[in-house]
Amino acid sequence: MSEIVSVKNLCKRYDELTVLDNISFSVQKGEVVVIVGPSGCGKSTLLRCLNGLEEIQDGRIFLDGEKIETNRNKTNGLCERMGMVFQSYDLFPHKTILQNLTLAPIIVKKRKRKEVEEEALALLERVGLSSKKDSYPRQLSGGQKQRVAIVRALIMHPEVLLLDEITAALDPEMVREVLDVVLNLAREGRTMLIVTHEMQFARAVADRMLFLEGGKIVEEGEPEEFFEHPKTERLRQFLQTFTYIKE
Ligand SMILES: Nc1ncnc2c1ncn2[C@@H]1O[C@H](COP(=O)(O)OP(=O)(O)O)[C@@H](O)[C@H]1O
Ligand SMILES: [Mg+2]
Repeated sequence: MSEIVSVKNLCKRYDELTVLDNISFSVQKGEVVVIVGPSGCGKSTLLRCLNGLEEIQDGRIFLDGEKIETNRNKTNGLCERMGMVFQSYDLFPHKTILQNLTLAPIIVKKRKRKEVEEEALALLERVGLSSKKDSYPRQLSGGQKQRVAIVRALIMHPEVLLLDEITAALDPEMVREVLDVVLNLAREGRTMLIVTHEMQFARAVADRMLFLEGGKIVEEGEPEEFFEHPKTERLRQFLQTFTYIKE
């Protein structure tokens, strides 16, 4: 395996608030890394830094050996190489699903409409949504919209996918259909960095877990060890908040 993402001594502050405090880690090609941690610990900020959406105060981020430009005024197109999916799907309401998917590849990547449409249809088929190509976002359920948002990221051919709590806004019965799509992507060997509170899913999909707290990676490890034998008291306590024990 070779390294595709490398984060070195990343520091991110908002004024006085230090959100990421000298963080270093790397991701191998084809690896699925799941990041967990309490609300407000900087998970979204970390993904946004990787994607080139945030200015950072110190440190360096490399994608396939190339340094990512983290000064927003000087974007060098690298962030496109990391596809991001958020909790809110942000589809264009007045465009059809097919139009939502083909817009960026045609305008940003200057690809041919016919070729992009064919790819969009093939991807929609894979997530079980071919029949929705001419529908508008409001005609889709939350789970369906989120699957479209995943396809919208995939069609840009990213080298790494960043998923930020993509099921957090969904009704429970729709969580599964979205996570199944992500599990399939993992099986295909996609490199992914996933932030989630779905612990069973994390355990099933992760090659490696990271626990972020207080601006630092407090613990990391293979899922089995991470969940069954947490080394730090802080991770133990965090994991307990997901367990219910009958008194
Ligand atoms: N644009 C911003 N300006 C100031 N503070 C921010 C901004 N974005 C996030 N923060 C703060 O940074 C911390 C980390 O936020 P975030 O990365 O969203 O956490 P998480 O995703 O782990 O819940 C929080 O304390 C949050 O209030
Ligand atoms: Mg967040």
